[in-house]
Amino acid sequence: MTGMPQWLKKLGKSTAHSPQKSATKVAQEARNMGEIPAYNDVGDVTEDFLADTGKRIDTRGPHMDSCFAGHDFSSPPPAIPKKFLPQHIALVMDGNGRWAQQRGLPRTEGHRRGEAVLLEVCRACLEAEIPWLSAYAFSTENWSRSTDEVRFLMSFSRDVIRWQRDELHRLGVRIRWAGRRPKLWPSVIKEIEAAEELTKNNTNMTLVLCINYGGRAEIADAARQLAAAALEQRIDPRGITEETLSKLMYVADMPDVDLFLRPSGEKRTSNFLLWQSAYAEMVYQDVLFPDFDRQNLWAALTEYAERDRRFGGVKNG
Ligand code: FPP
Repeated sequence: MTGMPQWLKKLGKSTAHSPQKSATKVAQEARNMGEIPAYNDVGDVTEDFLADTGKRIDTRGPHMDSCFAGHDFSSPPPAIPKKFLPQHIALVMDGNGRWAQQRGLPRTEGHRRGEAVLLEVCRACLEAEIPWLSAYAFSTENWSRSTDEVRFLMSFSRDVIRWQRDELHRLGVRIRWAGRRPKLWPSVIKEIEAAEELTKNNTNMTLVLCINYGGRAEIADAARQLAAAALEQRIDPRGITEETLSKLMYVADMPDVDLFLRPSGEKRTSNFLLWQSAYAEMVYQDVLFPDFDRQNLWAALTEYAERDRRFGGVKNG
C-alpha cells in the first residue's frame, strides 16, 4: 500500500469500517486534507464582492446597430437536403476581444456585439431547421481573465439572458444551461433557471447556453457522481457504459455534436463539449465572431454537407 495517496487510503478505510458514510463526506474530508483540489477554489470574482462595493456594471453600453452595416441578416438558407444538415451545432463565439482591440475599443465591446450575432445565428438556425445549437459563452478557464472582464462577462451573461429570453420564447426556442454551479454568480443561475422554466415546452429548437462550462469538468463531474453512486452501492461499477455516462452530462438529452464551428481563425476545441464532439465535423473560419453572419453559417453548412462521415466504419464496406 506504499505510495497510495492519503485520500485513497482514507477512502478505503472509510468504506471498510463505515459503509454508511456518504461518498460526498469522504470526498469533502479528502479535500480538507488538501489532496483533491476543490473545483471551485480559484478566483475571487464573486457576486458578493460587487454587492459589497455597490459597484454596478453597465453591460448595455451604446447602441451598436450602425456597426452592422454590410452584415447579412436576411439571406435564406442554402438548399441542402435535411439529411445532410447537422442536427447539433457547437459554436465557439471566439474573437470578440480581438475584434474590439482592432478598433481601439475595450474588449467588452466585442462581447456586446456578440450578443446580437448570437441571436442572429439562432434565427438563422431556426430558418435552416437545425434543432440544436450550443453556444460557448463562458468557460471554466475564463475565470483567469482580468477581474474586470470576468465581472463584465458575468453581469453581461445575466443581462443577456434576461433581455433575450422573451424573444427566444416567442421564437419557440427552448433554452438550456450547461455548466458548473459552484462559483457561477447566483444571479446568473437565477436568470438561466427562469429562462429554462419559461421555455421548457418549446419545440422549434434547443439553445444550450454553456456558462461556466468545461468539457473535462463535465466528464469529471459525471465520474464523481458515478463514484459516489458506486460507493453507496446504488450502482454496480461493472455495469457502467458510455450510455450511463452520457446520461450524466449537464444536458442529459443533448445529442452528439455534428458540426463544431469555430470562427476567429483558431483551430482548437478549447475544452468545449469534448464528450459530445467525439465524431463532430470541425469547421474553422477566418472571421471574428462579431463579424460572423449568415454567409458564414451557410458556408459552414455547405462544407458540412460535403463531408464524408463514416464514424469509424468503411463506406460501402
Ligand atoms: C470569446 O472571445 C468570447 C467570450 C468569452 C464571451 C462570449 C459571450 C458572448 C458573445 C455573449 C453572449 C452571452 C450569453 C450569455 C449567451 P474572446 O474574448 O476569447 O476573444 P479573443 O480570442 O479575440 O480574445
